[in-house]
Amino acid sequence: MEEWTLKRVQGDVLRIPSAVLFLIAVAKDKSMTDEQLLDLARAAAAKAYAPYSNFHVGCAIESVDGEVVTGANMENACYRLGLCAEQSALTAAQHKFGLVHVARIAVVGGTDATVCTPCGGCRQAILEAAQLSGRDVEIICGSGDGSGVERRTIGELLPFGFGPANLV
Ligand code: THU
Repeated sequence: MEEWTLKRVQGDVLRIPSAVLFLIAVAKDKSMTDEQLLDLARAAAAKAYAPYSNFHVGCAIESVDGEVVTGANMENACYRLGLCAEQSALTAAQHKFGLVHVARIAVVGGTDATVCTPCGGCRQAILEAAQLSGRDVEIICGSGDGSGVERRTIGELLPFGFGPANLV
């Protein structure tokens, strides 16, 4: 006999087969592999606008529920006002699922075998999400040519970071 669950979705009460809810929960739990997240970061890097440095960076951010957003660096003629890939993706993450739900971040940049790690400013921005969520956010760093990968956490990349606790 079919079992049903009543669920409130955006104000409406829906009658949904329990089996469907189970499948959704399983799908949500099954997050993508590090390599798949890196591939999304690499695809994002291809959309960077970086005509001044010619250094293309892409970032993919996954939420605890398996949702993903991406971003890339965007430069302009006033060099110092350029936007990093991580901060672009973090902005998208805040809009899609909230910084509090950030779980994993992949960053890819450049064209050779050098692994691209987040710059100091981006580490600070990632730390904000980590402190909001209470999670030591994972950062998978890849090289532009796909040969190198390093796995870090924000705690490793920015120990003793400045945060809300310092503002009292
Ligand atoms: N860049 C990023 O997008 N993320 C980083 O973490 C390091 C640097 C960008 C900024 C600039 O457009 C280019 O890479 C060269 O620094």
